[in-house]
Amino acid sequence: MAKTKTSFVCENCGAGYSKWVGKCSVCGEWNTVKEETPMVEDKETPWLDPNESMLSAKPQCLSDISYEEEPRIDMIDPELNRVLGGGLVRGTFVLLAGEPGIGKSTLVLQTILNAPHLKALYVSGEESARQLKLRADRLSNNQQHCQVLTETCVEHILVESKKINPSLLVIDSIQTVYSSNSESSPGSVGQIREVASILLRYSKTTGIPIMLIGHITKEGSIAGPKVLEHIVDVVLQFEGDKQHMYRLLRAAKNRFGSTAEIGIYEMMGKGLRPVENPSEQLINKRSLGLSGISVACTMEGARSLLIESQALVSSAIYTNPQRSATGFDLRRLNMLLAVLEKRSGFRLVEKDVFLNIAGGIKTNDPAADLAVITSVLSSSLDIAINPGVCLCGEVGLAGEIRAVSRIRQRVSEAERLGFETILCPQGNVDTEDLSFATAIKVIGVSKVEDAFRYLF
Ligand code: TYD
Ligand code: MG
Repeated sequence: MAKTKTSFVCENCGAGYSKWVGKCSVCGEWNTVKEETPMVEDKETPWLDPNESMLSAKPQCLSDISYEEEPRIDMIDPELNRVLGGGLVRGTFVLLAGEPGIGKSTLVLQTILNAPHLKALYVSGEESARQLKLRADRLSNNQQHCQVLTETCVEHILVESKKINPSLLVIDSIQTVYSSNSESSPGSVGQIREVASILLRYSKTTGIPIMLIGHITKEGSIAGPKVLEHIVDVVLQFEGDKQHMYRLLRAAKNRFGSTAEIGIYEMMGKGLRPVENPSEQLINKRSLGLSGISVACTMEGARSLLIESQALVSSAIYTNPQRSATGFDLRRLNMLLAVLEKRSGFRLVEKDVFLNIAGGIKTNDPAADLAVITSVLSSSLDIAINPGVCLCGEVGLAGEIRAVSRIRQRVSEAERLGFETILCPQGNVDTEDLSFATAIKVIGVSKVEDAFRYLF
């Protein structure tokens, strides 16, 4: 007879409680502790043969384990391959997380359809077979190697999977799937944990890679995040602004590769298109040369990305001047404005400042500071910055320009895109050999005034 026990679990961090509390003492979140009926003993696992049980594992000495490079499955899509660290490793458990409507289902389905060597089973708990067919028809006609299953019970899914023995199993989405062993509702932490651990066991015993699709809550975290993040090998995050065309795929965790790699896609009428040269598209050559516009040489993970910083400074209409930043941290903008006031006589209280990073891109790279601060000054003075100049450098509180990481990569990307001059932190110019850059002039600056003097 199954034994059930009721307990309370925090939906954010997965911490357990014996009674309800309003605030989770582990992660500090309010109203995240929910009632769960988690464990049922003597589980039935019809998909697992007793003789292939995990209990057969024996301890072995680390030095005796022969090492060979994990064979990777080529996903065809260059961006996805790069983010995965060179393809999908067998037996990997991957979580693809993103906001609803961002394009997760599209990305996975199009990857499968474009990779005919993959015998895939696509399980959907969200869409009907007809809806899947409609979407697949928009993506590709090559559909023979993909089976679809609309089912939400994990035990049934695995029975079907066992029959087909696919080379990739996709679950869309983890929040819709339930296990008959757990009595809590689908999407709750208890169910997610139960389903994920069943799938994990299946993937590790059979070597079939599993891709889970997971929704992100409005606060930006994966529902039941800590629970899933610990279990899976790879967490991929698909992000971007739905209003804008670009989508960024990044690895938040990867046991088989670097988390610095990113993939960039563009949403088109026929699915997502990998963008190989994002900088070329992000910079609008026609707008360069107008006042308030400058180009920043930033890094997004391990990739260099040239972005356009656009500022508009106008006389403040209200006593409280307005500050707005899109794609850039507002507090950092305020700090840069304070530096600007101190260093160039820019009167903060009299101006409204609007800042926009073009193309719907968000940047956290401090190296964008110099471009942001100069675009604000350019708009304020109404003097355009030479369109052949791009900038990189972190601005400190004293107006000093601090060295940035990966300067060689930034300079070569700027050179590749045909910029004539790049303003870099003096600290970088002094310590690194940048003589490889022949087509671009590298100018070291150590204070914001140096940059202003050069540009205006
Ligand atoms: P979807 O992949 O269903 O998002 P998710 O699974 O993350 O919830 O679809 C995302 C959006 O993309 C959807 O609103 C429609 C749009 N879309 C296109 O613009 N072009 C296409 O070819 C497809 C398939 C979808
Ligand atoms: Mg979907």
